[in-house]
Amino acid sequence: QTTTSFYEAVGGAETFRRLVSVFYREVAADEILRPLYPEEDLGPAERRFRMFLEQYWGGPRTYSDERGHPRLRMRHNPFVVGPLERDAWMRCMRIAVGEIEPSILDDEHRKALLDYFQMAAASLQNAP
Ligand code: HEM
Repeated sequence: QTTTSFYEAVGGAETFRRLVSVFYREVAADEILRPLYPEEDLGPAERRFRMFLEQYWGGPRTYSDERGHPRLRMRHNPFVVGPLERDAWMRCMRIAVGEIEPSILDDEHRKALLDYFQMAAASLQNAP
């Protein structure tokens, strides 16, 4: 018996590459979020986020090899994440998830992803 990870079930590296690529395309165009990102080049941030998600959903563990324990709350402390930022982040993520076709991401996996992002975004809010 083999068990398939969520990562594999939704198309593996290619799906996460596309998801995070569309997400950062939206961040780059978002006037609330873009100023929060310290680097002019969003490429390295995009890569860190992609590695994190791949690892979280059962793919390669490159994130922790390079970055150690995620400690996401601590890593977001330098940025003011209030309701506006949280909602802007979620808006970009909904667009990104929405661009993955149903043939790759079925309803059940889509819901699992969106529920997770909603929960994680709420838990990273650090300002009123
Ligand atoms: C890093 C903003 C939610 C995962 C960052 C960075 C910013 C940011 C400005 C620094 C970019 C960099 O140089 O890496 C936000 C805002 C959020 C949010 C405004 C709204 C709630 C989330 C959520 C997740 C997440 C929900 C996970 C599902 C990460 C990861 C990093 C990161 C993995 C890189 C951490 C590292 O340095 O290794 N975020 N984020 N973020 N964020 Fe978020």
